[in-house]
Amino acid sequence: MERVLVIHGPNLNLLGSRDPGIYGNRTLAELDEEIAGWGRDLGVDVETFQSNHEGEILDRIQRADHDGVIINAGALTHYSFSLHDAIEAISPPVVEVHISNVRAREHWRRRSVIAAACVASIYGRGARSYHDALRHLVHRSRWPAETRRYGDDADDQIGDLRLPDGEGPFPVAVIIHGGFWADVWQRDLMDAVAIDISRRGWATWNIEYRRVGSGGGWPGTQADVAAAIDAIPTLSDRLDPQRVIVVGHSAGGQLALWSAGRHPDSSAVVPMGVVALAPITDLTQAHRLGLDDGAVERYLRRSPDKDGARYRESSPVSLLPLGVPQVIVHGDLDDRVPVQMSRAYAGEAADAGDEVRYHEFEGSGHFEVIDPGHIVWSKIADEIDQFLS
Ligand code: DQA
Repeated sequence: MERVLVIHGPNLNLLGSRDPGIYGNRTLAELDEEIAGWGRDLGVDVETFQSNHEGEILDRIQRADHDGVIINAGALTHYSFSLHDAIEAISPPVVEVHISNVRAREHWRRRSVIAAACVASIYGRGARSYHDALRHLVHRSRWPAETRRYGDDADDQIGDLRLPDGEGPFPVAVIIHGGFWADVWQRDLMDAVAIDISRRGWATWNIEYRRVGSGGGWPGTQADVAAAIDAIPTLSDRLDPQRVIVVGHSAGGQLALWSAGRHPDSSAVVPMGVVALAPITDLTQAHRLGLDDGAVERYLRRSPDKDGARYRESSPVSLLPLGVPQVIVHGDLDDRVPVQMSRAYAGEAADAGDEVRYHEFEGSGHFEVIDPGHIVWSKIADEIDQFLS
């Protein structure tokens, strides 16, 4: 991915003065400069273009000779079928972005008529949406994934499958992203992790699931994770459903541990291990600590006083022993999920009789543990490799 075209649609020239509560204070020129800087960091040459005119945007798309395109189509997103067709007609991958959370605003903003023609839709992360779109394009070009469905919801009951070369059958690492169960955070967060693990000889199944704001929250989020794991035997005959591990980060760590502790029926895929990176292991405590401003209550839809059972059934620490080996990893400077939670969980898991290995990384925060470029990753990768033997 060497050259990327970034297109800003109608009214984005007003950034800086337009609704700063929603779009922030950056002007378009400042945003473009920032995007160019992110491009340099990622080794990508970025060209930016803004227009208030649909026809000009279509012309620019048709002429694009770039390796990838990022488009914030503004309100055209919600009604321009011509734009959909232009995106569909060109060969470079196109990522749809929005600064605001279009799913949490007026009802008409929920619909994107261009999404089906785009390879990903990243929204609600502020200017960071553009950064993450660039990063996603870079990862896609390094190792393209096959996106597969495991349920009826074409946006969220899907996952990215990456298979190593060869006949297989390959062991499978299910990858579960975090983001406090909120809709704006999606599986692109785990692209780099998935690629690194696939390089080690695993098939990776980097799953999406319905989240708070996208039809999920309790119980749909957990139901989706279970369905995605149980779908493994149907995805490809080059996968080995007897050799599955689940790797989850943060809220995805909670879902990963939960998936191993659920009481499976005979058709379920039972993982042989879990690797939980900065996981939320105790939902009652996470609620008390007010993590991410009440994220746990948004996810479980009740306070622990109203429905303690729901908290216990979803909390890894209440499901112990899980009966599968677990690797728990946490940075001691994590400011999103306190390291104390993992320390306590690892002790309780061992006391309950589970095989658990705990690694605490000095000087690391919440995101180093999902960065294959970071020094701590080699330890995590070693642990993942151990499940191969
Ligand atoms: C937007 C969201 C659109 O609904 C709106 O019409 C825009 C900006 C965003 O970046 O959040 O113009 O695309």
